[in-house]
Amino acid sequence: MVVLVICGGGNGAHVLAGIASSNPNADVRVLTLYADEAERWTKAMEGNDFVVTVNNQDKSQTILKNKPRLVTKDPALAANKADMIVFTVPAFAHRQYLDALKPHIRPGTVLVGLPGQSGFEFEVWTAWGDLAKQCSIMSFESLPWACRFTEFGRAATVIGTKENLAGAAWYGSVPPKADPTLVLQGCLGPHPVLLTRGALLGITLMATNGYIHPSILFGRWHKWDGNPVNEPPLFYNGLDEFSAQTMSSVSDEILAVASSLMKQRPQVDLTNVAHIWQWYLRVYADDIGDKTSLFTTIRTNAAYSGLTHPTTKTDDGKFVPDFKHRYLMEDIPFGLLVSKGIAEVAGVPTPTIDSVISWAQQKMGKEYIVNGKLAGKDVSSTRCPQRYGLTTVDAILGL
Ligand code: NAI
Repeated sequence: MVVLVICGGGNGAHVLAGIASSNPNADVRVLTLYADEAERWTKAMEGNDFVVTVNNQDKSQTILKNKPRLVTKDPALAANKADMIVFTVPAFAHRQYLDALKPHIRPGTVLVGLPGQSGFEFEVWTAWGDLAKQCSIMSFESLPWACRFTEFGRAATVIGTKENLAGAAWYGSVPPKADPTLVLQGCLGPHPVLLTRGALLGITLMATNGYIHPSILFGRWHKWDGNPVNEPPLFYNGLDEFSAQTMSSVSDEILAVASSLMKQRPQVDLTNVAHIWQWYLRVYADDIGDKTSLFTTIRTNAAYSGLTHPTTKTDDGKFVPDFKHRYLMEDIPFGLLVSKGIAEVAGVPTPTIDSVISWAQQKMGKEYIVNGKLAGKDVSSTRCPQRYGLTTVDAILGL
């Protein structure tokens, strides 16, 4: 029996709760600290089924009707004898869960970020201190599904399941009871296939929202004349060559960081860091119409059909870009800036990343980079390693 704790109360938490509870060998508990979600979810399940509808690739549907054993806001109850704790909440909420869980964690526990997002391990090492060194950490590049809950605490839908999901593990001094990839795979079912390999820092460097969204916003709007536009432009399928080039250069710089770190610490495997174009070819293999280049790959990705730039409407019915959208407000401090911080530790210059961040911070009203260095006053609200005092190569790799 595996004791699995799911942290969160949103879309991913609903779906994972239903799918994992279908495994008779899993004792599934949900911990949600947010507002009154635990009470509402518990009440919603009373006398009702908890239904997860999975839309399969062959257009069939699987209906699961398995409830988690417990939904609670009490970390002691949730974490009692836990083997694996899975975070399925946006990154800004991670710290709250880490602090609440810390007194109830036993050595050997596996903590999973699903997704972890950039700098997950830095946050865990800092929040849990010595305890973290006796636990293991896994982080995955995304959620396994595109999903939504349709009725809170009662029903959720899996719109699509990924074929595979890249992740990595870092092992502390007390080994887990069983191979954590196999345990998690057992809770997810056959898909997505979990590809756990390489160093955890590779997943931090491959948190692709941090490259994709800010690069496209920078490319489209950095020379904007301030005049509203008639329609929100297509975000991906309307990509221009300059934005694709920007994204590619950002990705090249991140590859250079990985390569430099592997030279500095030859025992570390960061070959899980790939160029963003390779990433697209793996993740969206069946959706891309023209695989000639990164530019054509994104423009012809059917999974992105109809998605537009985040905008707000003006009084006269036109549109201006929304620079307070999560594509900057989350993807800079919890994404690109973390890579910049790692580059700084590795001693690798990042001129394109610097240009994107310098433009973005102005639009966001934040100060991160000053004279090319991560010295701005708002670094303290990011997940860059410097914010946690992790300023050496060994420290960011957890060696
Ligand atoms: P969500 O948006 O459904 O999460 C909302 C939940 O986060 C709330 O129910 C609450 O439990 C918690 N929360 C919200 N505000 C909070 C606050 N101020 N303090 C503490 N907790 C708060 O998230 P979802 O959709 O489950 O996604 C989880 C992660 O997976 C996110 O990082 C998301 O970007 C990523 N993801 C989601 C996909 C999807 O299809 N839902 C697809 C790919 C990635």
